[in-house]
Amino acid sequence: MQNELERAAKAVRSHKFVRVISHYDADGITGGFVATKALIRAGLSPHLTMTKSLAPEDLSDYTDAGTKLMIFVDIGASLIDILEEMDTDVIVLDHHRFVSEKDSVIYVNPNRFGLNGMKDLSGSTTALLFALVLDDKNWDLAPFALAGAFGDRQHIGGLSGPNRLIAEQAVKKGLVTIKRQLRLSEKTVYDSILYSPDPFIKGITGRAQQVEEFFRTVHIDGDTEIADMTDDSGDMEMFETSNYINSIITLQLIKQGCEPETLENLVSDVYYTLPGRQNIDDLSSLVNACGRRGKSGLGFELMNGTEGAEAEASALREEHRSLIRSRLIELESDPPEEKEAIQYFYSDEAVINGAVAGIGREYLFNRDKPAFGLAVVAGKVEISARGSTKLVKNGLNLAEVCRVAAEKVGGRGGGHAIASGASIPEGKDEEFLKLADELVKEQITL
Ligand code: C5P
Ligand code: ZN
Repeated sequence: MQNELERAAKAVRSHKFVRVISHYDADGITGGFVATKALIRAGLSPHLTMTKSLAPEDLSDYTDAGTKLMIFVDIGASLIDILEEMDTDVIVLDHHRFVSEKDSVIYVNPNRFGLNGMKDLSGSTTALLFALVLDDKNWDLAPFALAGAFGDRQHIGGLSGPNRLIAEQAVKKGLVTIKRQLRLSEKTVYDSILYSPDPFIKGITGRAQQVEEFFRTVHIDGDTEIADMTDDSGDMEMFETSNYINSIITLQLIKQGCEPETLENLVSDVYYTLPGRQNIDDLSSLVNACGRRGKSGLGFELMNGTEGAEAEASALREEHRSLIRSRLIELESDPPEEKEAIQYFYSDEAVINGAVAGIGREYLFNRDKPAFGLAVVAGKVEISARGSTKLVKNGLNLAEVCRVAAEKVGGRGGGHAIASGASIPEGKDEEFLKLADELVKEQITL
């Protein structure tokens, strides 16, 4: 991989202008930011575009006579064969499913080098490695890169591989501090349970009256601040409060059938930037909301420190999260349809389906089947599929399911074994679901 990174650095040094194309989710936006910052510092003039998807026919939109170098971040892995045909130099920094390699494409993908692209490196942390090969001074971009990896949920259960090394170095360099604490992302316990859909407490999350009633019944002071309950606070009373809140939430989650993995992850390493002490999970969810609500540029500005960007991003996040909470609350009483090996539901908005499928499967639905969220948008059916570590260990590969089933019905799909998506022509959803059901059945019984 080092070799490929060196090749990338060498290519960059022979250019002035560069088109950077990154994915529109938290990983892609932070990765695009890290790569772009590093390129500017190296004296280049980058032009960044963040996009939801990259079809072969879209590539011409990104090139003009002046484009001699293109860099793809958190996107592009499925198009290596087509990128080879480009008249420009091409660098791909992606961690999605590895399909092929071509000598003329400089291709940094952890899956290509014996690493796990779902856990060891994300698009943004791969972009950080690229930035570091350009200049060691780019270490200050590490917190943004970590926010991207967190956006792809690579920190759940602990970081591994190069991601872990990056986090360790960031701590050593005084850029980041880690605290072991309850994985609640808002300022207070009350806000976390009310607003954040993760963890999702059945019958309670998203409903103020129920949250207040719940806290009264179990004697939790909702105003308790999460940051005061860290392992290094040295305050025994707070330590006990934290343990108490943890056990109450754990009990609740056991009642609603959550798996051990979910319960274990309630307490985890929470990363804060230094100085400023911004929760990196929080940064990640802000950037994610910007992307999902069609304002990737705002996510970039937020990281760039533009005045007012944080308030605007917070408002967008609340808009986004409230749609996710509402859909989950509906699915509490009207659960997904089940086939033999998969479960599925429809939503009006495609952008919430990844979160709804992921959180829903973890906290509300059948835990033994991957969840597929579908939405009909502009003559197409957009699909998000989510599984679990356990299902992946049992053979599930949703990237493969989405790719194969989508291609059979005239669409496209891909992603990761645990989280993938597809876009298919309208009217083909039933056929897609039937194929997906058969594919998952085959994978899990292998
Ligand atoms: O959109 P969503 O968050 O559900 O996407 C999950 C994963 O599936 C992402 O990694 C995305 O790149 C991939 N995907 C894909 N083709 C699609 C939609 C999503 O490869 N049409
Ligand atoms: Zn990613």
